[in-house]
Amino acid sequence: MNIVVIGTSYVGLVQGACLARLGHSVLCVDIDESKVARLREGVVPFFEPDLEEIVRSEMQAGRLSFTSKITEAVMIQPAVIFLAVGTPQSENGAADLQYLKAAARDIVAAVQSTALVVIKSTVPPGTSKKVKEWLGSDFEVASNPEFLREGKAVSDFFNPDRIVIGTTSDRAEQLLRDVYSGIFTQVFVMSPESAELTKYAANTFLASRLSLINEVANIADHVGANIKDVEAALGADPRIGNQFLRAGAGFGGSCFPKDVLALDHAAREHGYAPKLIAPIMEVNLGQTERFLQKIYNRFDNIEGRKFSVWGLAFNAGTDDVRESPALRIIEKLLERGAELCVFDPYAMASGRLVLGDKVTFAPSMMDALIGTDALLVLTEWEEFLYAPWNTIAELLSERVIFDGKNFLPHKDLRDVGFEVFGIGLN
Ligand code: UGA
Repeated sequence: MNIVVIGTSYVGLVQGACLARLGHSVLCVDIDESKVARLREGVVPFFEPDLEEIVRSEMQAGRLSFTSKITEAVMIQPAVIFLAVGTPQSENGAADLQYLKAAARDIVAAVQSTALVVIKSTVPPGTSKKVKEWLGSDFEVASNPEFLREGKAVSDFFNPDRIVIGTTSDRAEQLLRDVYSGIFTQVFVMSPESAELTKYAANTFLASRLSLINEVANIADHVGANIKDVEAALGADPRIGNQFLRAGAGFGGSCFPKDVLALDHAAREHGYAPKLIAPIMEVNLGQTERFLQKIYNRFDNIEGRKFSVWGLAFNAGTDDVRESPALRIIEKLLERGAELCVFDPYAMASGRLVLGDKVTFAPSMMDALIGTDALLVLTEWEEFLYAPWNTIAELLSERVIFDGKNFLPHKDLRDVGFEVFGIGLN
């Protein structure tokens, strides 16, 4: 099938490259000419495991190409056009649909109305209707939200838990079933509004789960319980489940914070004021503060203290630092006059864009430790787990580790003589 994907960021590029791998002919469109030029050279502008290999081999096979001109789409007469442009948070918390509107305008000018327009971007319920209005009545519009985690996006694409198709049209449903015919999973067909709400609800549910387990970890801190033991026993109940149950110094990323606020805003716009949604983000921001408080309690004077920081990315497996708790923690420590030496295996370039010369960027995780008092571990990269702790004990002037992800082997570290702080670990 001939397919156009508009937008080549995390969602659009994974969608386009993986659809090509399924055998479709895919043209990816992005208004950013320099990005398109790099993609044409086979360079993916962010780190996502396996993605660059797929982009290169699919380009070589002639199934994947890139352009900055939507008018080129007319040449391949696409059966389906995926809209995968950004829907960033606007000042009042609502999703900003300006890029979606601009893309719709481009489509009308360049593509035949026989193409099915599918919204892949995360959008508030009711957006499919708006896009149809922008496109004009000849176009059919469907919703097909994504459930890809950064760092695991390629694997999530090929092994999804479900595919959600939001349409009331048999033709649109069949086209989307054909698009994904190479993928074996359950397909849920529903109205566009339900599909749009499913996406927001999924992220809000997951985020609420994290804020709830973080609250339990905070309680564990106060009552002398161990959150790791609690997580294990809680997760054994299949009604609760053991995934997404790791407490820490707060969650981040470009999705949860934005989508939770956008759902809250969308509900209010439709006359309903949710009571549970806003506190998810309050707890999340408070979580970072509570982690910082542990540092302030341990070192009463932060001014002039030197800390090494391992991990900048919001999640292991990505170089994305958007809304990363690591950056929130770093900024607060800098405000108090700390000196920081940071390392991340993949997110150094993206970290540098945000932090500039406010911190020192170390060439390796061991270099980051030299001359520092204590270590903060803020992203759960696997290589941090297997660090040479005996050597590290010699490098830090005080043997203190703050684990913002609760993932280090705390008992082993204590055996080596470290003081270790996590969240709710007693
Ligand atoms: C999330 C969803 O998981 C995807 O299904 C969705 O498609 C995506 O948003 C999106 O809307 O595009 P993502 O934000 O990329 O994916 O990554 P997650 O793996 O969900 O992690 C989000 C945050 O939660 C990270 O900061 C992570 O460290 C944190 N987390 C995750 C925890 O603190 N504890 C856990 O147990 C799991």
